[in-house]
Amino acid sequence: MTDISNSLSGALTRIAGEVDACFDAMLPVPDDARKRLIEAMRYAAIGGGKRVRPLLCVAVAEMFGVSRDVAVRVGCAIEAIHAYSLVHDDLPCMDDDDLRHGKPTAHRAFDVGTAVLAGDSLHALAFEILGAPDIVTDPVLRAELVMTLAGASGSAGMAGGQMMDIVAEEQSFDLPTVTRLQQLKTGALLGASVEMGAILGRVPVDARTPLRLYAHDIGLAFQIADDLLDHEGDEALAGKALRKDAKAGKATFVSLLGPERAREQAQALITQAIGHLAVYDHEADLLRALAQFVIERKK
Ligand code: IPE
Ligand code: IPE
Ligand code: MG
Ligand code: MG
Ligand code: MG
Repeated sequence: MTDISNSLSGALTRIAGEVDACFDAMLPVPDDARKRLIEAMRYAAIGGGKRVRPLLCVAVAEMFGVSRDVAVRVGCAIEAIHAYSLVHDDLPCMDDDDLRHGKPTAHRAFDVGTAVLAGDSLHALAFEILGAPDIVTDPVLRAELVMTLAGASGSAGMAGGQMMDIVAEEQSFDLPTVTRLQQLKTGALLGASVEMGAILGRVPVDARTPLRLYAHDIGLAFQIADDLLDHEGDEALAGKALRKDAKAGKATFVSLLGPERAREQAQALITQAIGHLAVYDHEADLLRALAQFVIERKK
């Protein structure tokens, strides 16, 4: 293993522990009738997932000297949105999946109503974290973080992309439309992760361009990798059901380009993403390693 991938696996392990600890502390189980809700939130948020979004946020924030503790908590806000999006994505009314992170999906382990509410509450938790005055103390930064995460989560971001994803089963989308779908569904939240690290680091808007271009390219590559995993990945490693996109007749990068060209496209995007970081020295090495990881991952 090279130094860079060595330090990436260390960074992934470290952030996973920090995110778990943060959710554990924020989600004490009450001894009342809401118990099942908080247990379902903990089930969805703790102990699963690669934690790519919090790591992106922390990696960018640390380039600009932000305290790790603050960046991790902001990363948890982003991960709370991501965890909620997966709980709802797996519901019978959406992808109807039984397995996530190698265990039963939230609605399987609990029930559909509880899973809907756990998703809703994780969504709210994200904004409670960002709004808390003791985490990010500057109210201007807090507002910018809230606006960025809200924009990336709603109809102009993740939820909008999920809507297009549903429509993609009914209509045949062309490549530009699928690209737009993926940018919203997956790219928006990954982009927000990088952006929120830059906001915490007080990077002026003009100076954020290389980071935004990097995020744009890894966002698309991330979803191409997800589609390739669906097409040819190993279910046991992925911890979720695969071979679903073709069955659903869904237009994806893989269905439109074929797996070979999709793979080339993903690698080209990653090379381009790393190219955007040329303005930075070793402080961006973790972002470079993360970019390559995005397309080499097996889950
Ligand atoms: C899966 O995201 C869903 C997509 C947006 C493609 P991740 O691959 O980041 O999911 P986990 O959290 O690591 O399982
Ligand atoms: C889901 O995309 C993206 C979200 C915004 C949750 P997928 O439906 O392809 O994600 P997986 O394959 O179930 O993880
Ligand atoms: Mg889906
Ligand atoms: Mg799904
Ligand atoms: Mg998928």
